[in-house]
Order: sequence, then structure tokens, then C-alpha cells
Amino acid sequence: MTLRDRCPIIKFADFGDERGKLVVIEGGQTIPFDIERVFYIYGSDRDVIRGQHANRVSEFVLVNVAGTSKVRITDGTEDFVVDLDKPMTGVYIPNMVWKDMYDFSEDSVLLCLASTHYDGSEYIRDYDEYIKEIKTRDP
Ligand code: TYD
Repeated sequence: MTLRDRCPIIKFADFGDERGKLVVIEGGQTIPFDIERVFYIYGSDRDVIRGQHANRVSEFVLVNVAGTSKVRITDGTEDFVVDLDKPMTGVYIPNMVWKDMYDFSEDSVLLCLASTHYDGSEYIRDYDEYIKEIKTRDP
């Protein structure tokens, strides 16, 4: 399976009427895991790169609920960039995949849905260490 296939774009139900829009995201349904944690990133400048890690356990879905950003996803072999520019669209990021979020618009609010509670020890923040671990797991 290609990296792109492993990181599908997910479209959420988008209910709109004359009053405005309403987007629904349900854990275990549109999101392929039960949501244990929600956090959001805002106030990052255009020149900031966030993320820069892989997670040994956690899976994520990223959605720009306001503004725009980009996420570059790599497994050390393949890589691609997703434009996060629609509040009704997210990208699924499995565990052991490296991600960099960047190019944040001034009004960017990047919603991150995670499959686990926070545990700093499951984050790999060193790219060389990540490559080493992924080779051990998937020789
Ligand atoms: P960090 O992982 O560097 O953010 P990002 O990957 O989005 O750039 O996290 C920034 C700080 O926030 C760091 O000190 C850890 C803390 N943090 C938590 O305590 N809980 C969480 O769920 C997250 C995502 C971060």
C-alpha cells in the first residue's frame, strides 16, 4: 500500500442551510479510531514548522477548521503534502509516520484528533532515530 493510501483524506458530513454550516466528526465512524484527545494549534506564523515528529502509537486526523496550513507526511521513503484548507476535510495519519505542519495562515486553527491520551515518550522527535526505528519494525 502506498503512503498516500495509508493516509486517506476524510470528508466529513457538512450540513449547511441559510443559517450557516455545521460539520460533524464522529469517533469510530468517520474517524477510524475512538477519539481520546483533541488539541488545536493556532497563532503559528508562516515561517514556523510544527510537528516534526512521528508517534509510535498515536493515530491522528488533522483538520484546519479555520484558515489554512500544509502537512508534509513521510515514511522515510515516500512523501507527499496535503493542503489543509477546508473545514469539512481532514487527513488521517497512522502511527510511525513523520509529519511536519507549516505554512500557517494568520487565521489558521488546526484541529488535531488523536487516538491516545498524551504520552511524551511515544513521540519520536529525532528524524534519524525515526528512520532507525522504522527499519527495525519494517525491514
Ligand atoms: P508539540 O508536540 O511540540 O506540538 P506540535 O507537534 O503540535 O508542534 O507540543 C508542544 C507542547 O505541548 C509540548 O511541551 C508538549 C505539550 N503537549 C501536551 O502536553 N499534550 C498534548 O496533547 C500535546 C499535543 C502537546
